[in-house]
Amino acid sequence: MLPNALYTDLSGYYDLMCADINYQAQTNTVLRLAQALGNGGKTHLDLACGTAPHIYHFLKAGYQSIGLDINQPMLDIAQQRCPQAQFMLQNMCEFTLSTSVDLITCFLYSIHYSASIAQLQHCIRSVYHALTPGGVFCFNAVDKDKICNNSSVRHSTQHDGSQFVFESGWHYSGQGEQQALNLSISKTCTAQTQHWQDQHTMVAVSFTELEALLLPYFEVHILAHDYDKLTPWDTQSGNAIFACVKR
Ligand SMILES: C[S@@+](CC[C@H](N)C(=O)[O-])C[C@H]1O[C@@H](n2cnc3c(N)ncnc32)[C@H](O)[C@@H]1O
Repeated sequence: MLPNALYTDLSGYYDLMCADINYQAQTNTVLRLAQALGNGGKTHLDLACGTAPHIYHFLKAGYQSIGLDINQPMLDIAQQRCPQAQFMLQNMCEFTLSTSVDLITCFLYSIHYSASIAQLQHCIRSVYHALTPGGVFCFNAVDKDKICNNSSVRHSTQHDGSQFVFESGWHYSGQGEQQALNLSISKTCTAQTQHWQDQHTMVAVSFTELEALLLPYFEVHILAHDYDKLTPWDTQSGNAIFACVKR
């Protein structure tokens, strides 16, 4: 299977895999952060937008949204879901916009798709240049030093007469600037099971390193990974929401 096949060959299964994610709650959290920290503008860019589950909610909240992704099959589904948004095929590590925006988001840990620290720096710099003065960059991330290699998230669902099981987990060797996201999908229909496995190479950073990369460009707020209430990160948890205001 090709690398990142989930987003190309299997893009039609992506929304099933994410069926238990509360995108409305994630969007509400970003809306509250943008209101508290941002410049009041309503233009928005979602990096690594996938099939546009966040954009769907931003549009409903009155934002004018653009989605950016590196996979055309994901963008094709996104365009169907949100015909009023604009979508662009670009690499988030070297993207440019013709007009800057007030809010940039990147969720489901997709910032880690910048596959090295150098690429992550390019991504952060591109975000900085694409934001209006006082604009906000909001994303979630995982701290490489807090990854538990034995833990994974699993869920199953029925669709079109088939039983699907999705599993995902991080793996970090403890050294270097890369971690893996391991994904597996199985589909069972009339006693026949198909399996797919993907391993995505992603950038590994500690939150201390990530904050240091952001600080030259942004005022950085690190919050608990909680989409029900806004509270500061407790410095122990391995997941967090970053809200960064353009300097
Ligand atoms: C886990 S999905 C997240 C999609 C969406 N943000 C969500 O929350 O459901 C990751 C997305 O990142 C995209 N992606 C991976 N590397 C990328 C890159 N370098 N630039 C832009 N998009 C990328 C993939 O194509 C995929 O659609």
